[in-house]
Amino acid sequence: MAEEIVRGTQSGEVTLRIWRGDQDGGAFEEYVMPAQEGEVVLDVIHRVQATSAPDLACRWNCKAGKCGSCSAEINGRPSLMCMTRMDTLPPGETVTVAPMRSFPIIRDLVTDVSFNYEMAKRIPPLLPRSRTEDEEAAGGYRMAQMDVDRSQEFRKCIECYLCQNVCHVTRDHEENKTAYAGPRYFIRSAELEMHPLDTNDRRQLLQEEQGLGKCNITKCCTEVCPEHIKITDNAIIPLKERVVDAKYDPVAWLGRKILNRTKRTAAEAAVSAPAQGPAAVRPSEEVRGVPLPHPHDTGGAVAAAVAAPPATFPGDDAPPDA
Ligand code: SF4
Ligand code: SF4
Ligand code: FES
Repeated sequence: MAEEIVRGTQSGEVTLRIWRGDQDGGAFEEYVMPAQEGEVVLDVIHRVQATSAPDLACRWNCKAGKCGSCSAEINGRPSLMCMTRMDTLPPGETVTVAPMRSFPIIRDLVTDVSFNYEMAKRIPPLLPRSRTEDEEAAGGYRMAQMDVDRSQEFRKCIECYLCQNVCHVTRDHEENKTAYAGPRYFIRSAELEMHPLDTNDRRQLLQEEQGLGKCNITKCCTEVCPEHIKITDNAIIPLKERVVDAKYDPVAWLGRKILNRTKRTAAEAAVSAPAQGPAAVRPSEEVRGVPLPHPHDTGGAVAAAVAAPPATFPGDDAPPDA
């Protein structure tokens, strides 16, 4: 690490140790600012920009914990800079502010989070069932409030990517980015899978293309989520159960038949997905930090699911192997 630079000395001060640099390398630099009551880390960063380092790059928009832009690692913990009050940090100690480690650096505290946008494109979108006669007459769908509430938790996501950043599956293993959606996109899949009107089945994709099995339920993602979404308990574990049901449980299969809660297979969902919108369209070229899942196939992650034999995920017309 290059030599650290110390700027400014006053009493009643706060000291920020901020990472400065770009994809070619960098180092922490210290900035000492007058302490001011009621500030959050982002306030002090702004004062550093205004007084000492006008070229310091950081991303922010709302300063209210709602845009998900100001994600960083504060004293090593993935956090929103605008929601981390200075008076909650150890008094008198230097505060270290670093960019999110799991994503490529653009400059200073700004990272390239396009990995997440590519993962988003690989999830087949909502495909609602047809309306019943009653619903046609009423001019809309009917849904139980309980079903609405269950998905609503996941819709609180502000896409700050702190959970994606902290997840050790990709944080410590860059190579896993080829086929690992990550916690933010597991909750997106859970939201769609639990939607009572949806007819797409993403379970095979989740297991074979999006790495659901690599998650070992450490709950680190849940711990850092600023929206307090119970990512592991309410999304990932239920998804894992659904994947297992689809693969092994003949009773669950029978239940779906009796209740007529059938879904399209992953292959069918994948075929229709591009026509439904951009959500399942695979990127045409490798994005930095996001190698394509299978360089040898020509149809992308979604088409790979089409080609994959669905035998291990029986459609609802054939009973699973007992
Ligand atoms: S619970 Fe799963 S998704 Fe969340 S951080 Fe741990 S391994 Fe990653
Ligand atoms: S689930 Fe939580 S931590 Fe993950 S991107 Fe959404 S708001 Fe951020
Ligand atoms: S600036 Fe919007 S979440 Fe921090």
